[in-house]
Amino acid sequence: MKSEHKLFKGKTLAILSGGGDTPAINSSIESIRNRASLLGFKVYGIRKGWKGLLGEGDIVDLTHQPYDGWYGGTALRSSRTNPFPSKKNPESRVPQILQNLKRYKIDVLVTIGGDDTNGAAKRLYETEGIPVIGFPKTIDNDLRTRTMHNYNGNNIEAVLCPGFPSAAKAIAEFTGNLKTTAESHSRIMVLEVMGRDAGWLTGSALFGGANLALIPEFEITKERKEFFFETVKEAYLRSPKKMLIIPVSEGVRWYDDKSDKVDVVYASSELDEYGHPRFGGISGIIATEISQKLGIDARSQITGYYARSGRCSEYDRRLTTTLADKVVDLLLREEYGQMPVMDKIVSHHELEEFNTSKVDMGSIGNKPLSTDYYDVNKFEFTDAYIDFLTSILGKPQFTDFEYDFPVVIPKG
Ligand code: F6P
Repeated sequence: MKSEHKLFKGKTLAILSGGGDTPAINSSIESIRNRASLLGFKVYGIRKGWKGLLGEGDIVDLTHQPYDGWYGGTALRSSRTNPFPSKKNPESRVPQILQNLKRYKIDVLVTIGGDDTNGAAKRLYETEGIPVIGFPKTIDNDLRTRTMHNYNGNNIEAVLCPGFPSAAKAIAEFTGNLKTTAESHSRIMVLEVMGRDAGWLTGSALFGGANLALIPEFEITKERKEFFFETVKEAYLRSPKKMLIIPVSEGVRWYDDKSDKVDVVYASSELDEYGHPRFGGISGIIATEISQKLGIDARSQITGYYARSGRCSEYDRRLTTTLADKVVDLLLREEYGQMPVMDKIVSHHELEEFNTSKVDMGSIGNKPLSTDYYDVNKFEFTDAYIDFLTSILGKPQFTDFEYDFPVVIPKG
């Protein structure tokens, strides 16, 4: 296409990524860049999220640059910078941001982020009229995308955010590997999984062979804790190899015997610019209590940043390109303040633009795990959740070794 025939000749689109990284951000950036370039946009990258629009600005030109969308993380880097005043930073950075958007002649801004980054973008759109398009991103999968999951004829409100499929795959593989050491020592492994206040990611450990699980959406009160220990004991004794892997969300609300309170475990009391503390350490507490109360050898393992690390999965790659196709639609219609989403939960080969839709960025917010996906009375994810995740990861593959050798009894 000759440049003089391009629709948006002379216009500039800039992309930024904010918040925690995921393996699918570079894929999102590359896909948006490729499509916007075809339309005739010059494409800039703003480095370190909103921070790259402060001071003198930190902007790079992505228009004709090679870009590896399979490489995890974000080549534009990220930060948790909040343009608006917060407890940590009472000063508004909006004037600096507006000035830089003007100086660099940025016409459209695409913000790859979760609730925080896209929430700030929405405010800039509403209060300052900046043309923004949000792009979903989070391993926590807790950004309300209004993606419907049809399960046995019922529609469940699910979420599908780029980054989650790769992270879920990583957690499933991690759990599958952990199984061999847990088996060798007849242990209970308490596996801590990121996800902040939502249990979406924790469930992916099921695809590596875990059974019972604890999620932040249902707090563990004094009574429920007793019941949980009983359930763990029964499950352990029933297990053929005398071992269990129990995934627990980092944000689990757990009853503390000493303080007589239910609370989360913080890794640090320091809040980020959006007011979030950092969670971490609950798995150690639960493993210690299991050992003490049940007399079963238990250990903790934190999966931490492993979920966010490494290459983009095939599902995420196609998901991000599909959502970038929807960005084209929004750009052509000049519809701003919107975020492309998948309409329904579909398998890899159905990730197509005709299955996408858009949500008003004013209505995004957080979406905890749907109650249909977790059975509080059994501490288990339900068949509906398994169906949801099977669409994304495919059928779980368990490797097993039946080493039930005949026992030798000495003669005589
Ligand atoms: O929101 C993504 C996430 O990975 C959460 O699951 C986790 O609680 C948090 O980010 C960790 O943040 P940081 O990268 O600041 O340690």
